[in-house]
Amino acid sequence: MEHLNKALTALFATLLLLAPLLMATDPDPLQDFCVADLNGKPSVNGYPCQPSSSAGDEFLFSTKIASGGDPLANPNGSNVTELDVNEWPGLNTLGVSMNRVDFAPGGTNPPHIHPRATEVGMVTRGELLVGIIGTLDSGNRYYSKVVHAGETFVIPRGLMHFQFNVGKEPATMVVSFNSQNPGIIFVPLTLFGSSPPIPTPVLVKALRVDAEVVELLKSKFTGGY
Ligand SMILES: *[C@@H]1O[C@H](CO)[C@@H](O)[C@H](O)[C@H]1NC(C)=O
Ligand SMILES: *[C@@H]1O[C@H](CO)[C@@H](O)[C@H](O)[C@H]1NC(C)=O
Repeated sequence: MEHLNKALTALFATLLLLAPLLMATDPDPLQDFCVADLNGKPSVNGYPCQPSSSAGDEFLFSTKIASGGDPLANPNGSNVTELDVNEWPGLNTLGVSMNRVDFAPGGTNPPHIHPRATEVGMVTRGELLVGIIGTLDSGNRYYSKVVHAGETFVIPRGLMHFQFNVGKEPATMVVSFNSQNPGIIFVPLTLFGSSPPIPTPVLVKALRVDAEVVELLKSKFTGGY
């Protein structure tokens, strides 16, 4: 009995000591979701690590965004060269990643959201209209500025935003994120190109237009672009 009491006291003391740790928040998710495998072996939030002996210094360097893609290869007039953990395995667990986006004149990086990261960026060539729309807390406020080469901007995590090349010349920006996998939700694609599609009556009611308008918009995004 005395043993049991001592054991319980020790357990209680340990729990008290651990309390601050136990109250810490969960780590942020690094993927859209991670359905529990109730019989699985323990895994990690992200990718498992290679043994450090096989990770040479090349993992810490990348040339991926030294050049950009062709912005005229798709209807947006912009081309995103991604540099997240999937392109640069050395970023795993470090909580950062980058992108380069090249724009033709009049090209846009359409309205989108990064669910897992704040974005800071610099326009390195040309001039881009950067627009950010606040949540209802801000009264849906539209914040915008034409950002020139050498100037910077920040997009708070989760806010919808876009870039648009208002110049006569091609434009380029380089951005970084405080997540190894920021994720992207393209608003037009999300509404009109989901797979399977959102039922048309939902969009008719939500957007206050006729079904033909919704069908037309859906027809523009069936290919993912
Ligand atoms: C981006 O540009 C490259 C060529 O540099 C092209 O191969 C690729 O298809 C383009 N991507 C998109 C999505 O337009
Ligand atoms: C073009 O924009 C649409 C959303 O409007 C998006 O789904 C698509 O991935 C974009 N394409 C490129 C190449 O960025």
